[in-house]
Amino acid sequence: MPRKLRIMFATATTLGLCIIIFQLRLMLYDRTRLSLSDDDIPVVLWWTPFGNNNQVKTCGNAKCYFTHDRAFENNVRLKSILFYGSDFRVHDLPNWRSNAVSWGLLHEESPRNNPILVHEKTLNLFNYSSTFSRFSDVSLTLLDLLSLEELIAKSYYVPAKEKSTLIRAKNYAPVLYIQSDCDTASDRDRYVSELMKYIRIDSYGTCVNNARLDDRFKGNYLDILNNREFLSFVAKYKFTIAFENAICDDYITEKLWRPLIVGSVPIYYGSPSFKDWLPNNKSAISILDFTDPTKLADFLHKLVRNDSAYEEYLSHKLSERKYRVTNNALLRALERRSTAIPHEFGNYVEEFECFICERIQNNRELKIRTVTRKQYDCPLPRDPITGGISKRNWWIEQWNIEKCGAKLLAHYITNNISINIKYFNEQKMNMYDNNEC
Ligand SMILES: *[C@@H]1O[C@H](CO)[C@@H](O)[C@H](O)[C@H]1NC(C)=O
Ligand SMILES: *[C@@H]1O[C@H](CO)[C@@H](O)[C@H](O)[C@H]1NC(C)=O
Ligand SMILES: *[C@@H]1O[C@H](CO)[C@@H](O)[C@H](O)[C@H]1NC(C)=O
Ligand SMILES: *[C@@H]1O[C@H](CO)[C@@H](O)[C@H](O)[C@H]1NC(C)=O
Repeated sequence: MPRKLRIMFATATTLGLCIIIFQLRLMLYDRTRLSLSDDDIPVVLWWTPFGNNNQVKTCGNAKCYFTHDRAFENNVRLKSILFYGSDFRVHDLPNWRSNAVSWGLLHEESPRNNPILVHEKTLNLFNYSSTFSRFSDVSLTLLDLLSLEELIAKSYYVPAKEKSTLIRAKNYAPVLYIQSDCDTASDRDRYVSELMKYIRIDSYGTCVNNARLDDRFKGNYLDILNNREFLSFVAKYKFTIAFENAICDDYITEKLWRPLIVGSVPIYYGSPSFKDWLPNNKSAISILDFTDPTKLADFLHKLVRNDSAYEEYLSHKLSERKYRVTNNALLRALERRSTAIPHEFGNYVEEFECFICERIQNNRELKIRTVTRKQYDCPLPRDPITGGISKRNWWIEQWNIEKCGAKLLAHYITNNISINIKYFNEQKMNMYDNNEC
């Protein structure tokens, strides 16, 4: 092609492309306008698809339009962007962080799903949060506890005498462990393996396995955990190991509640402040109260031999009904919840959306709101036995690498630099290798 023709051709192509892009933009603009009934309604965008989509929602005196449609990113009415923690990705963030648009983080999971979120610099990017922490704006601490009723009910309860008979006559171990997620930040299996040397544990999961699960319980593992027959099986054990996959303040899952509900005493490792939520002073045994697994085993043996000492841990089943739960903080939290909305994760999401919407509309924020470590507090993993930082736990490296990731991300966002993920990751690893975080 002669040079002149080539230039003309290129110009025509560019022009054509420009027109197409312009029309596309118009179309998108139209769509975002048309889908709104009222021009004054603030827009809340779920950047990671979650929660309500294309819906005007009324929250008290406030009204907001919730959407997953990223075409709203540059809309003047956009007031807040929400992220679901597990899907928060460095390479897929809004183009820039405007001070006029708040960011909200919803994350009920432990850092296992996204370790960059444990770091202060990442958390500081958000204004509002809904996490497992009691200090978050819409707290999910008791998400996995259905009701007070199931905590005190004796539907599955097996008396201590019967449990002793099972140990003596049917070769049951005093302690149950079922876990099939074996490579965790909390390094829980290391503790279980050690404890096993000093007290018998029936371990049915793939982690430190030594027992075979009845064929009745084969199949979808997570379905079975809530199956009635399975719960009756758990109830036959004096103790159940309840170790979380990561150690974060207020990160408490069904691992604690399930044994409490069926009446097997939990041996717990997880949120350091978990006792704040127990039904009574003695409802679970914390491994942190013992200097090492042998001391814990000695204590468990004592309880195994002495039914009345053991039963002190089951007063949420055995006390007179109205005294079954003496923890007022727990009672208050459950009461507040039951008067509000039915207890389901979806309702917490709705509550968080409304919290955000009311903040936008009332617009009475006196000081700048920032999420901090307090709302997602997961320190560097430690060895469950020695309390030290263990080189064998590869999660520690993840934590430390993501600390560089968090520092870098904050730098990019504060300075309005767009992220090239390949370059970002190179920089991150360089910082990590040079100990710069
Ligand atoms: C429970 O423990 C707390 C703190 O250790 C103590 O103040 C309280 O008196 C205890 N309550 C009962 C009923 O023993
Ligand atoms: C069993 O435990 C109860 C309550 O803790 C205690 O009073 C009693 O002395 C214990 N019995 C034996 C034989 O140790
Ligand atoms: C949200 O955080 C950003 C960045 O820290 C800040 O500029 C903005 O004022 C905050 N918004 C609210 C409502 O606090
Ligand atoms: C950030 O950069 C974008 C372009 O990438 C620009 O439109 C926007 O105005 C910038 N924001 C600030 C606060 O500088």
